[in-house]
Amino acid sequence: MAVQFTLNGKPQAVDVNPSMPLLWVLRDTLGMTGTKFGCGMALCGACTVHVDGTPIRSCTTRISSVSDKRVTTIEGLSPDRNHPVQRAWMDIDVPQCGYCQSGQIMSAAALLAKAPNPTDDQIDAAMAGNICRCGTYQRIREAIHAAARIQAGADQGAAQEIKPPAGSAVVAGGAQCTRQPHSIG
Ligand code: FES
Ligand code: FES
Repeated sequence: MAVQFTLNGKPQAVDVNPSMPLLWVLRDTLGMTGTKFGCGMALCGACTVHVDGTPIRSCTTRISSVSDKRVTTIEGLSPDRNHPVQRAWMDIDVPQCGYCQSGQIMSAAALLAKAPNPTDDQIDAAMAGNICRCGTYQRIREAIHAAARIQAGADQGAAQEIKPPAGSAVVAGGAQCTRQPHSIG
């Protein structure tokens, strides 16, 4: 019987062995290769995706266990690679070989959803299961702090769109905005 779930916001049904790992379904059945295979034993984090917003290791998650749940992969994190974590990753040029990075980004995005301004200790705890053989850990930590600032700026911008400050100039068709999209300072 087909397993039905939501994948990156769209309904998905796959007719596979229910014990097949989600990672296999993503990569081999659906051809979505952004999520990587590293160890296959929940030890490296390369295969991290979100299930109902929680980061999980897709290499050891049976497809049957995501029935009727929301799965988000790196391909669906944002429609235009504009998620604050993706922007910060590009600004700081985090990846080296890149192999671990989709898993790192998915873990970082889940952390920021839970802790919008994480401390170094929170970052280290949340990212401890994501191994990077190239040792990009310092840039990852720096990028998560930058992503938090980008996210805070975006939230502030959204709030201002809903409720413009008194006396602000509004032009026909919308308010003019001069804020730089990549401002992280
Ligand atoms: S491939 Fe899943 S944790 Fe390593
Ligand atoms: S960038 Fe190479 S393994 Fe992390």
